[in-house]
Amino acid sequence: MARATAAKAALGDRVFVLGHHYQRDEVIQFADVTGDSFKLAREAAARPDAEFIVFCGVHFMAESADILTTESQRVILPDLAAGCSMADMAVLGQVERCWDTLTDLGIADDVVPVTYMNSSADIKGFVGRNRGVVCTSSNAKRALTWAFEQGEKVLFLPDQHLGRNTAVLEMGLSLDDCVLYDPHKPQGGLTAEQLRAAKVILWRGHCSVHGRFTLDSVNDVRERVPGVNVLVHPECKHEVVTAADYVGSTEYIIKTIDAAPAGSAWAVGTELNLVRRIANAHPDKQIMFLDKTVCYCSTMNRIDLPHLVWALEELVAGRVPNQIVVDAATAADARVGLEQMLALP
Ligand code: 13P
Ligand code: SF4
Repeated sequence: MARATAAKAALGDRVFVLGHHYQRDEVIQFADVTGDSFKLAREAAARPDAEFIVFCGVHFMAESADILTTESQRVILPDLAAGCSMADMAVLGQVERCWDTLTDLGIADDVVPVTYMNSSADIKGFVGRNRGVVCTSSNAKRALTWAFEQGEKVLFLPDQHLGRNTAVLEMGLSLDDCVLYDPHKPQGGLTAEQLRAAKVILWRGHCSVHGRFTLDSVNDVRERVPGVNVLVHPECKHEVVTAADYVGSTEYIIKTIDAAPAGSAWAVGTELNLVRRIANAHPDKQIMFLDKTVCYCSTMNRIDLPHLVWALEELVAGRVPNQIVVDAATAADARVGLEQMLALP
C-alpha cells in the first residue's frame, strides 16, 4: 500500500487512475474516480492533461479510453489478462457474416447496429462504420430509442439480456419482436421470415457472472427476508429482471441504496466486490448478495494491488507498461459510435 501511495505521489498529475465498481477494495482505494462504464468513458475523455490513464477495469474499457483520449495520452491496463468473456462472444468476422446475411436478405439497410460497451474496439468500429451507436447499461434505452429513429430494426451486440430487457421492459416491445441470433449456426439459426419480422436481433452473448442469478434466487430471498427489495443489473436474465423491484447499472445500484431508508433490506444481483463494498458502507441497512453461489468476476479480479503497484512503479521508472493501443483506422470508426453515445439526449 505504501508503495502505491509513493508511486502515485511521484507521478502527481501526470497519472489519473480510473476504477470500475467491480474492482477489489485494495485497488479501488487508489482510484481518482470510480464509476460504471459510462461514467468512466466520460471521465477518460475529460482528462486531456493526464499523460497516463491507468485503467483498473477490463480490456474493452481500456480500449474505449484509448479511443476517447488524445493521441499523446497513454492508457495502461495493469494486467493484460483482464478481459471480458461477454466481449469475447462477438468477434468481427462473425458480425460481418451476420451483416452479409442481412444484406443478402435485403434488410441490412433497415437495421441499425447497437453494441454494448462490453465489446471489442473492432465491434465498436463495425458499429461506427454502419451508422450505429455504442451503449452502456445506463443509457441502453436512450440508445435504442435513437436507433429506432434511424431505422426499423436493431442488431444488438453482444449481450442478449441487456438487449432483451431494454427492448421489452423499457421500450414496450414484446418478446416476439426479438429473435436470438446464434453466430455458430448458419443464418444465426433463424429463418429468413424470422429475421424479416424481427424488430430486435439479439446476439447470443451473455455475462457469465450475471447469467448465474436465477428466478429461484429471487424467490428464495423473498421467502427468507420478507419485504426485501430486489435490485439487479440488466445483464441478468429476463425472468430475473422481470421479478426484481429495481434494475440498473452499477452506478444506479449504488445511488439507489445510498438513498434508501435505514433499516431497509436489499438483495443485490451484481458482482460480489461491489455488493460487499455497498454492505460495508451501509451498516444501518440490510444488504445481501442475491445468490451466495455467484462469485467475483474473475477477469475484473485480475487487477490486484501488486499489478497496480507494478504499473505505477514502471511509469515512475520512465517505462510504459501494458499500454492499450487501438489502431488508428479502427479507433476512427469506433469513435463515431462512442461519440454518438456521448451525444445521446
Ligand atoms: P456497468 O456499466 O453497470 O458498470 O456494468 C458494466 C459491466 O458489466 C462491467 O463488466
Ligand atoms: Fe464481463 Fe460480466 Fe465480468 Fe462485466 S461482470 S467484465 S460483463 S464477465
